[in-house]
Amino acid sequence: MRVFVTGATGFIGSTVVRELIDAGHQVLGLARSDAGVKSLIAAGAQAHQGDLEDLESLRSGAAAADAVIHTAFIHDFSKFEKNCEIDRRAIEAMGDALAGSDRPLLITSGTGMGIAVPGQLATEDHLNFSHPNPRIASELAGVAVMKRGVNVSVVRLPQVHNTVKQGLVSPFIQLARAKGVVAYIGDGLNRLAAAHVLDVAHLYKLALEKHEAGSRYHAVAEEGVSVREIAEVIGRGLKVPVVSLLPEEAPAHFGWLAAFMGFDMPASSAQTREKLGWNPTGPSLLTDLENMNYFSA
Ligand SMILES: NC(=O)c1ccc[n+]([C@@H]2O[C@H](COP(=O)([O-])OP(=O)(O)OC[C@H]3O[C@@H](n4cnc5c(N)ncnc54)[C@H](OP(=O)(O)O)[C@@H]3O)[C@@H](O)[C@H]2O)c1
Repeated sequence: MRVFVTGATGFIGSTVVRELIDAGHQVLGLARSDAGVKSLIAAGAQAHQGDLEDLESLRSGAAAADAVIHTAFIHDFSKFEKNCEIDRRAIEAMGDALAGSDRPLLITSGTGMGIAVPGQLATEDHLNFSHPNPRIASELAGVAVMKRGVNVSVVRLPQVHNTVKQGLVSPFIQLARAKGVVAYIGDGLNRLAAAHVLDVAHLYKLALEKHEAGSRYHAVAEEGVSVREIAEVIGRGLKVPVVSLLPEEAPAHFGWLAAFMGFDMPASSAQTREKLGWNPTGPSLLTDLENMNYFSA
């Protein structure tokens, strides 16, 4: 297949590009800079210049492909709500280009969207249409384009890691470095689900090849790693103390990250493993954090 990949220069998208090319697919990657174009060509892909806010560039990229994998996102969390709206419009624009065909569109969301009852595992079959997290906009856009006849599936991600990046744990580490202390909230037993980036990229490929309309997949290798365990590994790595904060102290310490680091967000991938035969084998989140170089630039 010739696959249009947005976010093709990002952490997850660039790994998806490698996975697709290694499997014999062709990739047309969205790039918004000359450096992005160069990195895509070096990876063996073709580049399509555009931007998430240039909807015509997204429509033309999708129109030129047999399938779309959408992993681009503007990760400026000070404008999270606005960026989720941009994502909604981007998904709708690519949906326009694919409507009336069987060409698959894979979009990206977070496993938090599948939590039905606080404290229980998020599951693929659950979608809370009125979820308070603005990122619900991505899934709602997926539902809207599916109603217009697009073959859309959702890949929900947990904290995706290697020894360099680890999702929201990366800004958690930066904050700990800046403050000289690693903090968790209360007993720190709230959990984050996790998966290694190579396993995640493999899941996108399997989901693409299955192209079953309306599917939701969870790229979850570990159902829940406690924030306290994560903090303890980081404390050893950075050689800084690990402390517990009262919930009321969290906003001042964590800023925007408080909204994420205080939640219990375990997730299951049982339905995904069954449907796709996906069997993650990468290192655990704690192993990658133990092997990370905390003092590189
Ligand atoms: N990483 C995780 O643990 C995690 C967890 C849950 C969900 N997700 C979701 O997974 C997806 C991929 O995340 P990631 O970690 O790979 O993110 P990332 O490393 O920050 O990559 C983001 C990608 O989006 C592109 N991008 C940003 N702004 C753009 C714009 N205005 N126009 C076009 N492209 C733009 C970037 O291009 P440049 O290279 O030009 O900057 C890059 O290719 C996102 O939807 C993210 O929210 C990730």
